[in-house]
This record gives sequence, structure tokens and C-alpha cells, in this order.
Amino acid sequence: MAIGVFDSGVGGLSVHRALTEALPQADFLFLADQAHVPYGGRPGEEIVALTRNGCEILFQNGADLVILACNTASAIALRRLQQTWIPDVRRRLGRPVNVLGIIVPTIEAATGLPWEHEAERRGGRIEKLDVIGVFSTPGTAASRVYEIEIDKRRQDVAVFSEPCPDLARLIEEAAPRARLEAEVKGHVAALSRRIGRAPDRAILGCTHYAIIDDLFQAALPRATPLIHQPKAVADSLSLYLARHPELNPGHSGRRDFYTTGSPGPATPLLTAFWGGPLAFAACPVNSSAANRF
Ligand code: DGL
Repeated sequence: MAIGVFDSGVGGLSVHRALTEALPQADFLFLADQAHVPYGGRPGEEIVALTRNGCEILFQNGADLVILACNTASAIALRRLQQTWIPDVRRRLGRPVNVLGIIVPTIEAATGLPWEHEAERRGGRIEKLDVIGVFSTPGTAASRVYEIEIDKRRQDVAVFSEPCPDLARLIEEAAPRARLEAEVKGHVAALSRRIGRAPDRAILGCTHYAIIDDLFQAALPRATPLIHQPKAVADSLSLYLARHPELNPGHSGRRDFYTTGSPGPATPLLTAFWGGPLAFAACPVNSSAANRF
């Protein structure tokens, strides 16, 4: 059995890398739905259907647990799938599978509080407001998940989201660095104008953006902390697996990389991020749902 890692495209590799560092012996299947990337501007129902299809492929190929290494899918599809679909999958496959997202651990890292914690509303003066900027796809920004969930837990933290409609596609297409740099600078400037100053901390709330985190770091004021989503997810997965021994992550260190798009080597941008050659194989089981959009 194995851990499945799913994203619309290559962004999920930023999470995959942190997961494999934390669990080197586990078996990992990575699936990029490059036939349908980007997800960020799609209607919610499409995101749910595509995410379900990706998880189905990973479950069919031996994953016990799927990590949605995609903020958009985690914000829009995760709860629906957990509540209305996973129980059927368990019955059908006759084994205890599950799907988890990446937003909960990121919010835990940003607030410094466990998910169960909700702040008591006391009123009173807040001495210093900590402003977090979230850069994300339009879908994640429209869900307002970071604003809502952080506000429930920390009254002294304000969240401002900046939707970046073209950035995941540009990273997927390995656009020239100057083009990516201009795009990132434009979004950092737009967000700072809206806040009235630069954010105190930032979340790269789309896994694609971690591939160019150096450009965000350079566009933000010096030493602005980036809340590291891949590490937050890896820390929380290790704890989750310890609590769920019924889910088998495998033990042979297997690493498979699949795409619903064109198989072949990764782009130069991704190869540089990965630190070596990487190739995607054709998706092993093709469910008919994959061709609906
Ligand atoms: N990498 C994804 C995320 O974290 C989605 C990018 C996209 O397909 O728009 O939101």
C-alpha cells in the first residue's frame, strides 16, 4: 500500500518532497492532473469531480491515504469527498482509505494553535495586529478559507488574500523567469497597496508557488517569513499516521510519478526545483470521469 499525493499539476511536488523527507521508507504515488490544469478558475463542481477522479485513480493503484497537495482542491472539494464519497470507497474497496487536505496544517502553523482551538471572543484592545498575506488561486481566495478559519482562532491576526489568476499556469508552462518575476512583483505590490503596507508574514497558498518561493521572498520586504506549507503538511502527516495504524503507507521507499497529461520529462523550471531529472509516466488507470471536462 502507499500514500497518494494529488495536485492539478506539478505544484504538489513541493509537498511531495517534504513528505518523502519526513517518511523516507513509505511508498508514494504522485499524480498530476495536467490534462485539466489549472483548477484555480474552474467552477466548484468541476473541481470536485476532477479531484474525486484523481483520488479514485490513486486508490485503484494502491494508495490507502491520499493527500490533496492542492489548496484549491482542499478548499473546495475535500469536505464533500470526505463526507459523501469516502464512505462508499471504503465499502467498495473493502479497506480503510482516507483523503486529507493541506489547509488545516497550514492554518495550525500560521496560528501556532491546534485545529480544535477556537478563540473565545473577549473584545478588548488588540495591541499589535499581525497581518498575513495569502497568495493563492482565485478559487482558494473566493472560498475565504484562510480568512475565516484564522479569524476563528486568532483575533490578533488579519488575513488578506491576493488571487493570482495566471501564476499556476505560467509555472506549469515554465514561463521565463523574468515573466514569473514580473507577475509575482505585481501581486506583492497589489496586496501591499490593499493592506496599506507589506504583510508581516505570507502564505504561498498554492502549491505551485513554492516552486518559485525565491521570487516571492525577493518581492516581499527583506526577511518577511513565509509560512512553509510543505513542512507543516509533513509534520502533521507523521502525527496522523501514528494515530491511524490501519492506514498502511508501505515500506519499500517506492516513488512513482504519473500524469493525466503528456508523459515525459519535467520542464527545466521543475527540474531545477527538483534538483535532478524527473519524468512522468502515463496515468495507469483512466477513469471515464477524466474526460468529462
Ligand atoms: N497547485 C494548486 C493549488 O495549490 C492549484 C493550481 C491550479 O491548478 O490552479 O491551489
